[in-house]
Amino acid sequence: MITNERPSGIPPRLIVREDQPANLESPFEHLDGLLTPNHLFYVRNHFPVPQIDARTHKLAVSGAVRSPFTISCEELRAMNSETRTATLECAGNGRVFLVPPVAGVQWQSGAVGTAEWTGVALSALLDRGGLHDDACEIVFEGADRGVPKEDPPPGEITYARSIPVGKICDVLVAYAMNGEDLSPDHGYPIRALVPGHYGMASVKWLSAIHVTEAPFQGYFQTTDYSYWKENGTGSPERVPLSELCLKSQISRPEIDALIAAGSSYTVRGAAWSSCHIDSVEVSADDGNTWHAAQFLDPAQRGVWRRWQFEWQVPATPGVRSLRSRARDSEGNLQPDQHDNRYGSYVIHHVLPVRVIIRS
Ligand code: MTE
Repeated sequence: MITNERPSGIPPRLIVREDQPANLESPFEHLDGLLTPNHLFYVRNHFPVPQIDARTHKLAVSGAVRSPFTISCEELRAMNSETRTATLECAGNGRVFLVPPVAGVQWQSGAVGTAEWTGVALSALLDRGGLHDDACEIVFEGADRGVPKEDPPPGEITYARSIPVGKICDVLVAYAMNGEDLSPDHGYPIRALVPGHYGMASVKWLSAIHVTEAPFQGYFQTTDYSYWKENGTGSPERVPLSELCLKSQISRPEIDALIAAGSSYTVRGAAWSSCHIDSVEVSADDGNTWHAAQFLDPAQRGVWRRWQFEWQVPATPGVRSLRSRARDSEGNLQPDQHDNRYGSYVIHHVLPVRVIIRS
């Protein structure tokens, strides 16, 4: 059979999209199990990785709490732990497919992965501090700092993001990923893990949690990772990106794969959203007809479901495009077009994968 798939025996590895700071993409065509192995999990860093000694590192909880406190990593690990599976996707995943091209890290399909995260429930930590009645948002601050590349730069800042108090329910202060201590690239020794949200909310190298009484106005909340939302008054509001939007991606075949005419070919991929994935369909005729794919994983909120579809490849050679589209439990259907309001973020529209059928 004709195939341009990688020869077996060459181990998959991360693709370097940027060297310093490290921005590394997962080889999505190697999507295999439900969980992405740690050494193949994408890395998105804005600034250099901070050097942290877990023996002396402390997390400060302050702001609109009755009793501000600091807690060491050892004390955190002594608290009740929880483990949850969550898919993390960078809001810029798929940016390279936008037309015309846009600035930013040129991610293909691999700025996404799924892991089992272990840590302490954020709610347990906040209970210890005692939230004020007028608490509005929880700001997570990382220990990394630098000057953002985009113009005009705000000067040297730390990486910080917030979530509304109403969204703390499933959030973890995590110290382990797939059963191993977090690696330096993934936030060692502790990070926030905000399931169902784009990756920017899951602040790494967590050094402070600050409870505010008003919406946080930090750079990564209002300038980057945000968009103008029309509200019908003629004065659009700047709104931070938040929950994952419904998306499916094809992992097999790769773009421009050679596929044998008349063969049976297994198309594979994954679909995810902030809620449950209900169905995935595949089209091999430019979206004219769609066929149900089979799931390999159960539906779990904020966790991808791998799927596959047995394609009866036409007997006639030529160029074809494969497409996948997902539906979620809230009745959303994956869109055909990119929503330009999001600029170079939230790229979740249906993307054709061109293949070449050869006899
Ligand atoms: N946290 C800090 N402190 N600094 C960062 O640059 N990048 C964010 C988020 N947390 C970032 C951060 C972004 S944009 C993403 S997509 C995720 O981390 C990526 O997490 P990962 O590198 O563990 O895959």
